[in-house]
Amino acid sequence: MAVPALDLKTQYERIRQDVEEAIRGVLESGQFILGPNVRALEGELAAYLGVARAVTLASGTDALHLALRALGVGPEDFVLTSPFTFVATATAISYTGARPVFADIHPETFALDPGRAREYLIGKGVGPKPEGRVKAVLPVHLYGLPADMDPLLAIAREHRLHVVEDAAQAIGAEYRGRRVGGLGDAGCFSFYPTKNLGAYGDAGLATTQDPDLGDRILRLRVYGGRERYVHEELGFNSRLDEIQAAILRVKLRFLAEWNARRRAIATRYREGLAGLGIGLPDEPADRLHVYHQFTVRVPDRDGVQRRMTELGVRTTVYYPVPLHRQQMYRDLGYRTGDFPEAERAAREVLSLPMYPELTDAQGDEVVEACKRSL
Ligand SMILES: Cc1ncc(COP(=O)(O)O)c(C=O)c1O
Repeated sequence: MAVPALDLKTQYERIRQDVEEAIRGVLESGQFILGPNVRALEGELAAYLGVARAVTLASGTDALHLALRALGVGPEDFVLTSPFTFVATATAISYTGARPVFADIHPETFALDPGRAREYLIGKGVGPKPEGRVKAVLPVHLYGLPADMDPLLAIAREHRLHVVEDAAQAIGAEYRGRRVGGLGDAGCFSFYPTKNLGAYGDAGLATTQDPDLGDRILRLRVYGGRERYVHEELGFNSRLDEIQAAILRVKLRFLAEWNARRRAIATRYREGLAGLGIGLPDEPADRLHVYHQFTVRVPDRDGVQRRMTELGVRTTVYYPVPLHRQQMYRDLGYRTGDFPEAERAAREVLSLPMYPELTDAQGDEVVEACKRSL
């Protein structure tokens, strides 16, 4: 039996009727942009995440971009983030005209290490000196595990920085009893189809506890104006359409069940892979991991991946090249060796198949293939 890295078709088979009804409802309504489904979804997501405002957008990348802009981040500013994340985290910073600067990750959580962030801010890190130019810190809740937010929030207060959470992979994850997305000034989510809550196309969300900031993001979503044909600032077209909103409303009803199933699969993997000398994902006691990915560390990662593929089990490497080593960012002036933990993670990580529809039998097969491939 082959095990794919991801299986969206099985999920669709299970929710087909609800999804098709929802889509038909939109088609019959004749309302395709910023209609009742978008409004309802925003209310449902705000309630689920425990935030004052939830603004749906065209993508997670837009959520990061517009949240940073709404906070006043622009040219001349630096934004401090993790070098070990999907490229969109940093490109969104670049879209504002600001410059991404990096501090290394914590080896256990794969997220921005508060100790390293502090070092950078007091001028002891690598890269350009902060010199009062850092305007925001952008932690990433990678793989579905929240970054260590309290120390990061304390550092941000101390240095008067905004905090934008990249929660693209972490909807439903909790830090000290609170869902991510409501901990910093703004939270940014992606509903890219492969995410824990995925649309059938591109979609995203920005959240905030500050209604004024929410209004500003709303303006940026539609050409920088509140009133039609009256524009207060340069805005964008980043609307979520009604069809995607209707689909997401159906899927949101299943999110808790799906995240619980991901956690059950993670437990099964953890038990099956214990004692083999491979690095299993950390789940600190104060956090709830939603296992967007179950990512292990293995020596000879590429060899293990190849052998698992031969045994019929597909795995993925998120991410093989840290951002400071990307050609697009060569002008930032970083060098190999600047962020040893991010570089080691890029060499060692391997994400096992993870989706709620994965059966126990498939999970056992993944464990077996992994053992035989070490
Ligand atoms: C950590 C992270 N940040 C940002 C994004 C960007 O989201 P989107 O693809 O919806 O633009 C993604 C996902 O693709 C992501 O995984």
